[in-house]
Amino acid sequence: MCGIIGYTGKKMNAKDIVLAGLKNLEYRGYDSSGIAVNENGKINLYKSHGKISNLEDRLKGKEILSSTAIAHTRWATHGKPNETNAHPHRCGKVTLVHNGIIENYMELKKELLEKGVTFQSETDTEVACAYINDIYESEKDKIKCLSKACSAFRGSYAFAIIFDDEKDVIYATRKDSPLIVGLSDDGNFAASDVSAILDFTAKYILLEYGEFAKITKDKVTIYNADLKEIEKEVKVATWSATEYKKNGYDHFMLKEINEQPDVIANIFSRYLNDCNYNDIDFLKYDAIHIVACGSAMHAGMVGKYLFQNYANIPVTVDIASEYRYSTQMITPSTLVIIISQSGETADSLAALRLAHSKGATTLGIVNAVGSTIARESDICIYTYAGPEIAVATTKGYTSQVAILSTLVINAMKQKGLLSDELFENIKQDFSNISSNLNHIISKKEDYINVAQKIFDHNDLFFIGRGIDSAVCMEGSLKLKEISYMHSESYAAGELKHGTISLIEKGTPVIAIATNNDLYEKTISNIKETKARGAFAIFITTDNFKNSTFEDFSDISITLPKTTEFVQAIEVSVLLQLIAYETAKLRNCDIDKPKNLAKSVTVE
Ligand code: G6P
Repeated sequence: MCGIIGYTGKKMNAKDIVLAGLKNLEYRGYDSSGIAVNENGKINLYKSHGKISNLEDRLKGKEILSSTAIAHTRWATHGKPNETNAHPHRCGKVTLVHNGIIENYMELKKELLEKGVTFQSETDTEVACAYINDIYESEKDKIKCLSKACSAFRGSYAFAIIFDDEKDVIYATRKDSPLIVGLSDDGNFAASDVSAILDFTAKYILLEYGEFAKITKDKVTIYNADLKEIEKEVKVATWSATEYKKNGYDHFMLKEINEQPDVIANIFSRYLNDCNYNDIDFLKYDAIHIVACGSAMHAGMVGKYLFQNYANIPVTVDIASEYRYSTQMITPSTLVIIISQSGETADSLAALRLAHSKGATTLGIVNAVGSTIARESDICIYTYAGPEIAVATTKGYTSQVAILSTLVINAMKQKGLLSDELFENIKQDFSNISSNLNHIISKKEDYINVAQKIFDHNDLFFIGRGIDSAVCMEGSLKLKEISYMHSESYAAGELKHGTISLIEKGTPVIAIATNNDLYEKTISNIKETKARGAFAIFITTDNFKNSTFEDFSDISITLPKTTEFVQAIEVSVLLQLIAYETAKLRNCDIDKPKNLAKSVTVE
């Protein structure tokens, strides 16, 4: 939800530095972008609608000499994505970029309007800017001024701020939106996350809620909420700049799909060689609540199936934006598992804090090392999937499923429910996962064939039972988010209770059947759709291979049969590739689908 970066340093090409960094933050939103630079003592703003490349085109050939700049890429919340609403915003002596939402901005705006302040944009950010400027008129100590202003703001914010009367200084502060301060010999930074600064430095400080940073070219001073100077640990980023490049792939999504054989194999081998990382006492808990958003919630659905069916533990899966406001039975005997690739999703973080306040044990399954959810969880298990740039998650999701599988195996062991035979089979699957996934990825022609049959339809349905039903949810979302096709996922037995009315001649239905006990039931459900004209695409495992698929399906694809602890991952990779090929045929912007953002740090 919006990316921010600021640089002040020895170099005079601050514009190029922040633009380079901003491009690594584009996953956070790409409705508009803008930059503010101090040119010969004058603050100039340059903004563009749409992606950062538009801003770059606009600035091409312009000689902008400045040693300080702040920049922003926006995911619109308040006001349309146009140039007026684009950041930076400026009022009086204050210019700033903001990530988050000032929830009481209407109240503050009214106060300011009564004082005669005028506004150009529809944004909450311009109000925050004007509010800070208003306080600055009487409080010239900038840190005190910011502290006063922030105490009036409700909601979330990460700000990078420059003042007209103090050249080459950036101020930064945050609440519930991420912000780091980057350190280098040539200058210093404020940014939404480390990806923005990795081309220049790996050293950074994590700014906590209530802290303020004063950043100059050779010094960074951090103040705590009492406005006292404090020392902070300097961290070194573990992800490198090259991991943020496409490395020859047409899209980040394709690159990330191709990284899955290694990512998942690493998780499984880490588990088998050193299972301390998930040494959790499952006997202590009466219930597990899995809470997450989007694809992470879908990973939770797979986890629920595995926990309940194999470890006999009751599990609920909730969408974080609902859980945080619900009256859940959260007790000290509840294990609350928060799943989040970014570790910064606002609703998931709020759910985590709610669980803490009720005395539950919290377990974060997180990809971004050092992120807020990782830091605030009682126990954090990292997926170590590496940076994920494509907005539609692939390796982020499958790595979450892999971690959940290993947790379930652990729970089964502790409860004496894991037979030697099953464990041997699982270990066999773990050691084959990389070659199986590579095999699935290599079947490109199969996915192109499916894509050619479905890409010009308006609606599509996914059906499956048991764990396949959970996998369908993610397959459907993947297709929808990158190809803009309308797609719905249904438990196979449920489609007939209403939605089957939408099936007509040629409507594609993707059916998944990997479970021995449910296989024939799912086939009956496919036949129900075929009888109404559906174009059926059947995905199953090679143990069912027989000549009858064509009786009830138009296309069939088989996968290697494995235990359910890895099957969901394998089917998911296949569905990611179908979504990818379909989006390609529909000429969609695969890595940056319209209206989406990868990291959702607002409610
Ligand atoms: C956004 C992303 C999804 C992601 C969800 C949760 O909607 O586009 O891909 O699953 O947020 O994000 P998280 O970082 O918490 O996993």
